Amino acid sequence: MTAKLIDGKQIAAEIRGEVAKRVGALSERGITPGLATVLVGDDPASRVYVNSKRKMCAEVGIKAWDHDLEASTPQDQLLQLLEELGSDPAVHGILVQLPLPAHIDEELVLEAVPPHKDADGFHPCNLGRVLQGTHLVAPATPAGIQELLIRANIETSGAEVVVAGRSNIVGKPIAAMLFQKAAGANATVTVCHTSTRDLAEHTKRADIVIAAIGRAGAITAPMLKPGAVVIDVGINRTEDGLKGDVDTEAAMEVASAITPVPGGVGPMTIAMLLSNTVTLAERFG
Ligand code: GUN
Repeated sequence: MTAKLIDGKQIAAEIRGEVAKRVGALSERGITPGLATVLVGDDPASRVYVNSKRKMCAEVGIKAWDHDLEASTPQDQLLQLLEELGSDPAVHGILVQLPLPAHIDEELVLEAVPPHKDADGFHPCNLGRVLQGTHLVAPATPAGIQELLIRANIETSGAEVVVAGRSNIVGKPIAAMLFQKAAGANATVTVCHTSTRDLAEHTKRADIVIAAIGRAGAITAPMLKPGAVVIDVGINRTEDGLKGDVDTEAAMEVASAITPVPGGVGPMTIAMLLSNTVTLAERFG
């Protein structure tokens, strides 16, 4: 079997087209959606991500409000900025790029983003709504994964899904989203993590494997069930360039569909962030 490549780049472009239309409709109501992006420090990977988020904002007509702070910025100054952005009517969404420098308490910062401006869906209130299945916006990467599955016509209802990784950003929310009684969900979900005794034992019976581990090539071909769908969330910088969490080439001989890295989940994350921003502007603008 040679797996079909799920073209995240193409699907993300479609979504950005839809977002641009929604921005047009908002402008008829006199609203220009605004996304404030806050980058603290000079982590090169974070800089690349934030730059592409800002560039894509411009492409769909969202006004990007850029805030670049030095790595040594005191926590109070960051909290002060978030308070200002929280009361700025031109700002509909706020994003604080993670990770933050070690002297800053990430939990405190994420709670300082008002839930109605939380474009990343990281506020505990919004994560709680994801758990309930009542969310307006979901974290961008899990939202992008669910949208990819829907648009690639992959049946999730009744499917065995194995999520490898339990981060607050990906693993936990995607698990909660896929087991809801809802369209694009209704799956039986298993979450594996560093204390899982035998990861392969789980992945081998999965119809859909979502790899969010953060280690290049962690999911190999023998770990997959023939015909499985593989969603690779990994972005690992290696000596051989950018690699996902899956040994893609070998996995393609076993899987029925797989997302490439780059060009899979990555572009979807940005598209869903833009969509979240517009959703917040539509609802609260
Ligand atoms: N760092 C890694 N992924 C993300 C993301 O989706 N949003 C933010 N803000 N930071 C991240």
